[in-house]
Amino acid sequence: MRIAVAGTGYVGLSVALLLSQHNEVHALDIVPEKVELLNSGKSPIVDPVITDFLEKNASGERPLDFHATIDAQEAYTDVDFAVIATPTNYDEKKNYFDTSSVEAAIVAVRQYSPHAWIVIKSTIPVGYTQQLRENLDDDYILFSPEFLREGHALYDNLHPSRIVVGAPQNDAESVEAAHQFASLLAEGADPSEASRINHDGSTGIPTLVVGTTEAEAIKLFANTYLALRVAYFNELDTYAESRGLNTREIIDGVCFDPRIGDGYNNPSFGYGGYCLPKDTKQLLANYNQVPQNLIEAIVDANRTRKEFVASEVMERIKDVQNPVIGIYRLTMKSGSDNFRQSAIQDVMRQFKANGIPVLIYEPTLDKLDFQGSEVTHDLSEFKARTSIIVANRWDNNLANVGGKVYTRDLFCRD
Ligand SMILES: NC(=O)c1ccc[n+]([C@@H]2O[C@H](COP(=O)([O-])OP(=O)(O)OC[C@H]3O[C@@H](n4cnc5c(N)ncnc54)[C@H](O)[C@@H]3O)[C@@H](O)[C@H]2O)c1
Repeated sequence: MRIAVAGTGYVGLSVALLLSQHNEVHALDIVPEKVELLNSGKSPIVDPVITDFLEKNASGERPLDFHATIDAQEAYTDVDFAVIATPTNYDEKKNYFDTSSVEAAIVAVRQYSPHAWIVIKSTIPVGYTQQLRENLDDDYILFSPEFLREGHALYDNLHPSRIVVGAPQNDAESVEAAHQFASLLAEGADPSEASRINHDGSTGIPTLVVGTTEAEAIKLFANTYLALRVAYFNELDTYAESRGLNTREIIDGVCFDPRIGDGYNNPSFGYGGYCLPKDTKQLLANYNQVPQNLIEAIVDANRTRKEFVASEVMERIKDVQNPVIGIYRLTMKSGSDNFRQSAIQDVMRQFKANGIPVLIYEPTLDKLDFQGSEVTHDLSEFKARTSIIVANRWDNNLANVGGKVYTRDLFCRD
């Protein structure tokens, strides 16, 4: 199969590499620097499995049929499938996802491959694919939600929790193409996945071919559930901290119930990262006129949590003369290389709104200024100059100043 992938971010690059084990894959990005890096065998993102795949491909140890380009004609001509993995940021003015990059990529693909199956992997509003098919009068568009975690993008595609592909259920040709695409993803997965046993007793990777609107809903409801869980344990922590209780003991006691389960229960400053904040807001926008309480509460809970964290920090330094608040890393998780929508940024804004200067320690930032605040790469200077250090995630680098660190990372895990 000849396959094109639009966008070489977390989603596009991991899907492209996965598929290039058994297919000819042409990945296109509009950022030339990313394409140059890829063509020199280097990853533009921090992801150990992606790095390993690219290095082994470059050295010839494990060759892939993978090509990166900025040239639409080269990437999109005569492909069987075109996967769209471009950004869908939340537009705060329109209260909806900005899907313009998806549409731009589809127009570009159609110019060179009028009959290819287009599979949208970007996260999109519920109902989007059906609407797009109608607007473009195009019966060859499918949607397949992506569930990967940043930093484990290719690992999660090699070991997928499930494969979901959306196609109009009354269109046999689309349903067949959806099954074909699901098979391509399964073929690229680690061979051990074929014999895995699932909680329902089934074997192999659970695969669902459903309606496009159901597939879109699966993605947004899954992420909103994850946000709910984070928000729940954060709110538990807010209660415990306010009442002087031991949060860790409470979470341990709650989570030994197998119906609740352990994991995804470590308090933080709020759910963040690229997807959860925007996907919860988009789902809330999709509810439009449908009764709900919970979805709105999940969105609101995140703001309340960050306000609580900011006020707790400020309370601790209220008697300090000329305080400086240290922000230890802008990233959301330890080991992450990006800080898109990280919770600590909103917390930080509240310090600044209260006139308290902040000093940021962020070694991955090449500038010494971030949104008007000073950045340092010198950890000793950072520790010496700050009155309190605010860290969404604990790091042993902070052990010698542990007494002035404010974190809610009680289990030292993501
Ligand atoms: N990051 C995640 O964990 C994750 C997980 C599941 C789903 N998603 C969804 O997948 C989509 C992509 O997310 P991402 O994290 O990979 O984004 P990203 O920002 O890491 O990568 C997107 C890439 O698309 C490129 N691009 C933009 N416009 C383009 C165009 N017209 N043609 C070709 N390339 C173009 C950008 O230069 C960038 O390299 C989003 O809708 C996101 O919500 C992301």
